[in-house]
Formats: sequence, C-alpha cells, structure tokens
Amino acid sequence: MKIDYLIDNVNLVTFAQADKQGSLLGVGEDDYGSCTQAVVAIADDKIVFAGQLPGSTEDWLSSQGYDVKQRLDAGGQWLTPGLVDCHTHLVFGGNRAQEFEWRLRGESYEDIARKGGGIVSSVSHTRELSEEALLKQSEPRLLRLLEEGVTTVEIKSGYGLDTETELKMLRVARELGRRHAVTVKTTFLGAHAVPPEFKQRSHGQQCYIDYVCQDMLPEVARQELADAVDVFCEGIGFTPQQCEQVFQTAAKLGLPIKGHVEQLSDLKGAVLAAQYHALSVDHIEYLAEADVEKLQGTVAVLLPAAFYCLNEKQRPPIAALRQHNIPMAVATDLNPGTAPLASLLTAMNQVCILFGLTPAEALKGATLNGAKALGLKDVGGIQAGMAADLALWDIQHPAELAYGVNFYRPTQVWHQGRLRNS
Ligand code: NIG
Ligand code: FE
Repeated sequence: MKIDYLIDNVNLVTFAQADKQGSLLGVGEDDYGSCTQAVVAIADDKIVFAGQLPGSTEDWLSSQGYDVKQRLDAGGQWLTPGLVDCHTHLVFGGNRAQEFEWRLRGESYEDIARKGGGIVSSVSHTRELSEEALLKQSEPRLLRLLEEGVTTVEIKSGYGLDTETELKMLRVARELGRRHAVTVKTTFLGAHAVPPEFKQRSHGQQCYIDYVCQDMLPEVARQELADAVDVFCEGIGFTPQQCEQVFQTAAKLGLPIKGHVEQLSDLKGAVLAAQYHALSVDHIEYLAEADVEKLQGTVAVLLPAAFYCLNEKQRPPIAALRQHNIPMAVATDLNPGTAPLASLLTAMNQVCILFGLTPAEALKGATLNGAKALGLKDVGGIQAGMAADLALWDIQHPAELAYGVNFYRPTQVWHQGRLRNS
C-alpha cells in the first residue's frame, strides 16, 4: 500500500478516547487524548494509521508492506487536528470602524442597529461590490485564518439581504474554497436583519421573512449554494415565530439549521432551534441554565470575540453545558461589527479567559466540536479513517495554543492529505 506521508517522532492530540482505542495505540487518558512518540500515516486524503508502534518504524513499514513516498521526522513536535472555524461572516464589503468609535462613546450595538447602522451598513457596502471585488476584500481575512492552521471554515451570507447579493456572497465563499487549501462550508443567513427597502413598508419584517422563505431560500437551495441555514433570533433580528418559519422552510428543502440565539436577550431561540435538530446554537450568553438540558443533540458554539468587542457582561452557562455534556465549540464569529477578529487561536485564548474553558476544551472546541457544529463526522480528530487535516506545532504542550496570543503558527499544515504550500 502506498503511504503519501509518514510523520514520525511526533506527539499527537487525537481527541480519541482512551477506552475506544481501535487502531490507536498508546492514547493517554488526558483531555487531549494525547499520544506521545507516535507515528501518523496518510494515504490520499485520509489518515490510515495514528498511534504508537510496538517496535521500530522500519519493522512496522516492512511488515505492513508500506511504500512511503515522503517521510517527515517531526522531532517531537505536536500534531493536532487542523483547526475548524465553525462560525464566520468573513465575506463582506467595507468595514465598521466608525461604529466602533460610536460604541466607545457610549452608544450600544442595539442603538446603532436601530438607527440604521450595524448589519445594514455592511449590507450597502456588500451590495455595491462586484463579485471579484468582494472576493478580493474577503480573501485576506481567510488567509489570516489559514496562517494559524485552519483547514475548515464556515462562511455565512447575510450582508446581501436580497436574492442577488446573498447568492453573490455564497458564490464568493465557495470560490474562496476552490482557490485555497481549505474546506469551506457555506451557510445562508438571509434572516440576519431587515433590509432598508422592507423596513419602510408596513409589516416590513414579516414581509421580508416571507420573501426569505418563498424566494431567497428556495433559490439558494436550487443552486445548491448553502450547506446550512442560519437565523438571527433577537429583538433587533427576528422573532422566534419568524425563525421557526425559516427552520420549517429549510427542513422542507432538506437543509440543516443553526441559530444566532440568546446573544443579547433570552427569547428561547436555542430550545426552538434544538427542536428543529439544529447542528448548533451559537452565542447563547443569555441561555437560561434550566434550558441547557433541552439542547441534547446539538453543539453550543461559543463566540467570545463578540462578547469581548461588545464589552458584554453576561456569560454563557458553561457549568450547565458541561454538566449536561453538550459539546462546546469555539469560533471567531469573524464579522465587521461585533467581532473584527481573524484569529481562531485568539478566540481560544478568549474563551478560556472570558468564559472559563480549559485550554483542552478550547482546542477541542476549535477542532472536533467545531466540526460537529458543521455536521462533519470525520474531521477534527486524529484517528485512522479521519480526514488528513492536520497542523504541526513547535510547542512543548498543547495547552500553549490557547495560552499565547499571537505566539504560534503551525510549522506544517495538511489539508485533505496535501501539504499546504507545496
Ligand atoms: O454573530 N448577531 C448577529 N450577527 C453577527 C454580527 C453581525 C454584524 O454586526 O455585522 C454576530 O455577532
Ligand atoms: Fe455570527
């Protein structure tokens, strides 16, 4: 059998469980599923072996009859799953630095949204750009994420708010995935805000949701441009009833859902989304502890950068999420308003400092659980059969990745079995 890459003399963060070893030998019982002095073999886009060997690498290779194309002595570095940023809005036009100044002078995010700034201001910038110009503005933000070892990224629409511009955003997101060594999952977020042309009409909010459900979403589905559907369930977004209308339309079209829920107030959007088998419920600072047990089957996506940038005080119910074993993911939420942050490692640091996660929980949140929030079962861990999306780091211990801010870059990254930039 042909092995494309053999990585030798390496320490692994597998996120596999010690009691379910399978072919993974020597995995420890710590929170990283760590496995030291190990070997990883990659064939095509998959990991075919990961773990410790009973004897020498040479004996093992010849006993298996493996033909190794490239061999890499990692010199005791740590190999982690490639990072997964499961919640971004990185395709947008312009920026909102002026709004940042307003907020520093005391205006709230909601005040600014109500007076026509916020999301709607990014909408006008996004609408006016050509497809190529939108791609050119968005690409550097994607590249910042890739530099840190991101191999899967979710990108939402939601700054178009008309069919044409929403489709344009989703096409740009997909094109970014074709131009760069990263898996892009796209999410349609038509229900992000009410665009100005609907705001002036009576019942504008409901008319807009009808338009989302009757025109935009069916067209997005027909063109197969979205992998999931998201909503903003909030006082300045949409009511739970309107979000439910979107969820029902998505279900009819066979698309999984997610939700921006309980970011600024508790409208019970997370429980509603979970009833519709949401892949994830995102933000959830205002989620009631008593509602956590109703979230079985979904993933709680924590977005500490938005909490940080809005100088919020209300934290998500982390202890209850742990108690009920709800998987926690962490993402950047990279967007022009609440989270102008193109660094998943920084979000990992923030989720520890601001929300009290452990460095292991943060790394799992930015790998295995991030993948879960996108419905990806074979991404985010290091085990035979999983995708060969990997990042190699010159560190002494995996806790370093959440501890440092702008300390680390991976020394090598594999995306679907291919060494990046080679
Ligand atoms: O995830 N909450 C809604 N959406 C984004 C913010 C979008 C914006 O302000 O442009 C978020 O925080
Ligand atoms: Fe968001």
